[in-house]
Amino acid sequence: MIPGWVMDYPTGSETGEYLAIDFGGTNLRTVRVTLLGDSKFTFKFDKFEIPADIRVGKSDDLWEFMAASLDTFVKQEFKDGVEGKLPLGFTFSYPASQDAINEGVLQRWTKGLDVDDVEGHDVVPLLQKAIDDKKTPVTVVALINDTTGTLVASKYTHPDTVMGLIFGTGVNGAYYDYASAIPKLEGKLPEDIAIEGTPMAINCEYGAFDNEHVSLPRTKYDIQIDNESPRPGQQAYEKMIAGYYLGEVLRLILLEWYGEGLVFEGQDISGLQTAFAMDTSYPSRIEENGENFVSTLFKESFNIDVNEIEANLIHDLCALIGTRASRLSICGVAAIIKKSGLTSGKLAADGSVFNKYPKFKERATTGLNDIFNWGGEPDTYPFQFFHAEDGSGVGAAVIACLTEKRIAAGKSVGTIQSKL
Ligand code: GLC
Repeated sequence: MIPGWVMDYPTGSETGEYLAIDFGGTNLRTVRVTLLGDSKFTFKFDKFEIPADIRVGKSDDLWEFMAASLDTFVKQEFKDGVEGKLPLGFTFSYPASQDAINEGVLQRWTKGLDVDDVEGHDVVPLLQKAIDDKKTPVTVVALINDTTGTLVASKYTHPDTVMGLIFGTGVNGAYYDYASAIPKLEGKLPEDIAIEGTPMAINCEYGAFDNEHVSLPRTKYDIQIDNESPRPGQQAYEKMIAGYYLGEVLRLILLEWYGEGLVFEGQDISGLQTAFAMDTSYPSRIEENGENFVSTLFKESFNIDVNEIEANLIHDLCALIGTRASRLSICGVAAIIKKSGLTSGKLAADGSVFNKYPKFKERATTGLNDIFNWGGEPDTYPFQFFHAEDGSGVGAAVIACLTEKRIAAGKSVGTIQSKL
């Protein structure tokens, strides 16, 4: 659990022009956000696909790619140039230890990324240097996890938001605790933060839950996915439920069934042999569109003919994969509810699995009720999922704004030892 150094609740009255970089999923996004106050904002963004060789390449190439994308965006958005420097919130959705809001040492890559020489380094100066090399007029003022961004962006528009949750390529959640209640910060807090009642956003990094494998029953498919991943033994919980992995679970099960002569008998299944040949849109589209769609999809994607029995089986399997993922996903949410002592509130959720996997929200809601036994109709439960505001863009902007305000007011934004 990582203190995120957001020590204010947004009020909705924040205003100003901000940039954000969103790096943490399949694409890189550059975002321009104008906070208008009154819980309103406008934003524009550009999406850049992250080339496969950058995802597993060298540190310099990664920062150069990010800075070049940002430079293109800034030139296009600010055709008449910029006075001074634009403040930027950097949404870096990987576990990064923070002693202050404007720094973050990458603990380890997750979600299949494997770029050399970044783990163990503070990523803010690495990005800032690449930006400065291009003479782009931008200063990185805050480093943000997507869950913290989601929490803050959603609280900007819905003040009763209590959690920011991502069910996407990875899984994770953030909530506000109190700075004085965080044991690992004992003795490290400046006086203005140590006072009772100072909120602190916590990035839970619960994708790493049960890395010791003592709580969750893993299937042989989970174990294989873990063994073949760039960081075996890490992100145990995430590897069972997140979007990066669900298509792979389906693929491994189908390969096993094929090996046992149960499906696709006598057919060439070479297209299915490549790891990650199916992303999560496969099981989610199959569940969404029904059995008939299975034949079309497998023919088009892998030139495999699927008969009716196989189509039914694959459809049911996808429902099972989705059900397991959604029910397991709420363990993290339930843990935050128990730890924080919250009794009600809005759960701001985002990510491809939440947004696109059929019935995810319903299944997760049922799963939560199975833990807490609230009873009654789902719409009366004390905690309700809702589709979050864009945390990585708007959240980054609001956090950048809160940070600037704190600094202007002479307040601290990190530990006693941190630079600011
Ligand atoms: C992974 C990352 C975490 C991020 C989550 C969702 O779990 O480690 O930082 O919040 O994915 O993107």
